[in-house]
Amino acid sequence: MKKVLRLAAVGDLHCKLSSTGSFAPLFKRVHEHADALLLCGDLTDYGLVEEARVLTNELKEVVDQMPVIAVLGNHDYQSGKQLEIQDLLSDHGIILLDGNCYEICGVGFTGTKGFGGGFKKRGLQAWGEDAIKAFVEESRLEAMKLESSLARLDSTGRVVLLHYSPIRDTLIGESPEIFPFLGSSFLEEALNRHPVSVVFHGHSHGGSPEGYTSRQIPVYNVSLSLMRRLFSEEAPYRLFQIEIESTECFPDRIQEEVKDV
Ligand SMILES: [Fe+2]
Ligand SMILES: [Fe+2]
Repeated sequence: MKKVLRLAAVGDLHCKLSSTGSFAPLFKRVHEHADALLLCGDLTDYGLVEEARVLTNELKEVVDQMPVIAVLGNHDYQSGKQLEIQDLLSDHGIILLDGNCYEICGVGFTGTKGFGGGFKKRGLQAWGEDAIKAFVEESRLEAMKLESSLARLDSTGRVVLLHYSPIRDTLIGESPEIFPFLGSSFLEEALNRHPVSVVFHGHSHGGSPEGYTSRQIPVYNVSLSLMRRLFSEEAPYRLFQIEIESTECFPDRIQEEVKDV
């Protein structure tokens, strides 16, 4: 009998000081549907430590029930407090990915924020002004971080969390003028070099829910506003099941059969 690990993924919570009481109900029943919760960046709205503190209170029950794995988003950098936010979330049991790896039941997780720059031949090139070169360099560094963490994963199942998109298709619905600020093909190139099972990203609030890299790796945009539109207000997250070999972890939660999702 095949076993699966069940994942729930959502991004762009944009937790504010006034968000007390608004996220806990969203995740109240997530333990019935999933064995781990994945958060794809923009955890806070203005990148304030106080906003992150509100979020840790909202997620307290979930953290007690299952691993909560997250990457930061650009909003989490807005006030220059990203390291403090990272520390606070880690202190409250949330697993932060920034080029590091985590494993549950033999399934490997890695991720990074990512960065913009655009896609394929239309992507920004490191040419001309120093500011342009610095922008492209930042995008390349994020992709290299992802690539080296993927190279360290030796699990059969490999799950990637990003904030920025690695492909254009999950941005369709946004104004094409802003596509270059929503993701970068450097991330896709890194993904394509490894046997990645699935990729989740946020950042594109008005984009499309799914697409594939050129090597057919499934990519899901799990931005909260999209998830609300696609699923429900009560459970606005995408569920995904990944086959596992280990039979000894979360025995009470692992489903008996692989189901199509
Ligand atoms: Fe966002
Ligand atoms: Fe964002």
